[in-house]
Amino acid sequence: MDLIAQLTQEHQDYVLKLSRLAEVIEGIRVNGRGDYFIETLDELLKPLTVDLDDHARREEDFLFPRLLERAPDSPVPVMIAEHVEIRDRSAAFGQWYPAWREGDDSAYQRWADAALDLRGKFSAHMQKENLILFPLARRVLTAEEIQQLTRLGDR
Ligand SMILES: [Fe+2]
Repeated sequence: MDLIAQLTQEHQDYVLKLSRLAEVIEGIRVNGRGDYFIETLDELLKPLTVDLDDHARREEDFLFPRLLERAPDSPVPVMIAEHVEIRDRSAAFGQWYPAWREGDDSAYQRWADAALDLRGKFSAHMQKENLILFPLARRVLTAEEIQQLTRLGDR
């Protein structure tokens, strides 16, 4: 699997995780706080903060610079600006969920709002990458360059 295919697959995985997150938030709204919800949130925390940050960094470090060289009018600057917003929402979830978990009731709204906002922003963003940016990368980069990206991305 090359880097672009790998990133596309990760997008799908994040969409599933973010919809699980939204289900948990709905569950808490209806039933209140419960062990099952906390367990699920604990499982989602690292993928939706640390791993998501790393995913964006691989795009920024390996894919975006080459696209900027080859296709100066590409939407890379817009994608970078959206990464800033996504990181901000993801960091807010990562900050306020643990506070709520440890008993700060007032942190609930902060992490739940951040999580739902993250879901909306991420799904719009990853569709642009999947439908516009990645196909553009496949057009302007050679097969060898895409293979090389894969090796770099594995490091
Ligand atoms: Fe992405």
